[in-house]
Amino acid sequence: MFKKSLLPVIVILPSLTSVFCATYTLSDEIVGTGFYNSFDWQNISDPTHGRVNYVDKTVSQSLNLTFASSNTFILRGDSKTVLSANGAGRNSVRIQSKKTYRTHVAVFDVRHMPEGCGTWPAVWEVAGSGWPNTGEVDIVEGVNNQGPNAVSLHTSAGCTMPASRQQTGTSTQLDCNTNINGGTGCGVLLSSQKSFGPTFNQNGGGWYAVERSATAIKVWFWARTECSVPNDVQTGNLAVDPSNWGVPSAYFPNTTCDLAARFSDHYIIINLTFCGDWAGGAYAQSGCPSTCVDYVNKNPSSFVNAHFDFASLRVYQ
Ligand SMILES: *[C@@H]1O[C@H](CO)[C@@H](O)[C@H](O)[C@H]1NC(C)=O
Ligand SMILES: *[C@@H]1O[C@H](CO)[C@@H](O)[C@H](O)[C@H]1NC(C)=O
Ligand SMILES: *[C@@H]1O[C@H](CO)[C@@H](O)[C@H](O)[C@H]1NC(C)=O
Ligand SMILES: *[C@@H]1O[C@H](CO)[C@@H](O)[C@H](O)[C@H]1NC(C)=O
Repeated sequence: MFKKSLLPVIVILPSLTSVFCATYTLSDEIVGTGFYNSFDWQNISDPTHGRVNYVDKTVSQSLNLTFASSNTFILRGDSKTVLSANGAGRNSVRIQSKKTYRTHVAVFDVRHMPEGCGTWPAVWEVAGSGWPNTGEVDIVEGVNNQGPNAVSLHTSAGCTMPASRQQTGTSTQLDCNTNINGGTGCGVLLSSQKSFGPTFNQNGGGWYAVERSATAIKVWFWARTECSVPNDVQTGNLAVDPSNWGVPSAYFPNTTCDLAARFSDHYIIINLTFCGDWAGGAYAQSGCPSTCVDYVNKNPSSFVNAHFDFASLRVYQ
C-alpha cells in the first residue's frame, strides 16, 4: 500500500518542474470591456493611403464599430453607409495599447477577423516614433481575403534573415529593409490557409502568439480545431513557456540582424483599413469585382463580416 501511494508523487514531479520552468509571467489579461481600458483609439489618417476614416472611441461606441461584453471584443468597419466619391473613407477603427513592450509574449485568441474584398486587417507591433529605425513586427496581415497570413518584419537597412531556418512557413524576402523590395520587409507566408480571412473564420479562428526575446522574434499560429494547441495557450495560464510550443510558423533569429538595436519598445496595434498601398495595389489580381475604391464606396453590405472578434489578449513578460 505504502509503496503504491509513492508512485503518483513521482509521476507528478515532472509536470511541477515544467510549471516552474515557464519563462514568461502574465502581465496583462485583456478580455471584453478590458480592451477599453488597455487601448487608445487613434483617429489618425492612414499612412498607407487607405479608403478609411478612423473614428475616435466615442464615435466607435455610438456607431457600434467597437462593442464589448464580458468575454468578447468586436472591432469593425462600417457596413451601412454608401460613400460619396469625394467624401471621407469608410469608418473603421485603429487601436493602440497604452503600454509598450520589449521582451514579451503576446497570445491573441481570435474568433473572427475582417473579411471582404478591399479589406486590409492587421495585428502588429511598432514604436511611437522613429520608424523604420525602431522596427515593426506584423503578426496578422493580409488583403482582399487572400490567405495565408503574412508575418513580416520591417527595419532600416542592415537587417537580414537566413534563407534556411526552423519555421513551418515559407520566407518571401530575406532583407527586412523596408526601403527596398516595394516596402514588403522580410516576410513569411504561413503554411496553413486557415491562418487568414474567410478560411480562418469558417474554422472558428484560432490563436496567434508572438515571442520577442534577445535572440529571436517568433510567431506561432494554431487553428481552432488543431490538436497541437499548447495547453498554456489554450487555457490562458498565468505563465507560458514558448520553448515547449514546437517549431514556430515564422522565425526571425538574431544571427544577421541585431534585434536589440533594430527593435525598440513597441505598442500593440489592431487596425482595419480598406484599399490603400497593399489592398488597393493587389486588388486587380485578387479576383475581386470593380476597382477597390469604387467597390468600398458603393457596397457597404459587403462589409458585414469585416470585423475582428477577440476572445482575449494575454501579454506575458
Ligand atoms: C479625433 O477625435 C477628436 C475627439 O473627438 C477630435 O477632436 C479630432 O479632431 C479627431 N481627429 C481627426 C483627425 O479626425
Ligand atoms: C494598418 O496596418 C497596416 C499593417 O501593418 C499598416 O501598414 C498600416 O499603415 C496601418 N494603418 C494605420 C493607419 O495604422
Ligand atoms: C452591437 O454589436 C454587437 C456585436 O456584434 C451586437 O450583439 C449588438 O446587437 C449591436 N448593437 C446594436 C445596437 O446594434
Ligand atoms: C545579436 O546579433 C548582434 C550582431 O548582429 C550581436 O552583436 C548581438 O550580440 C546578438 N545578440 C544576442 C543576444 O545574441
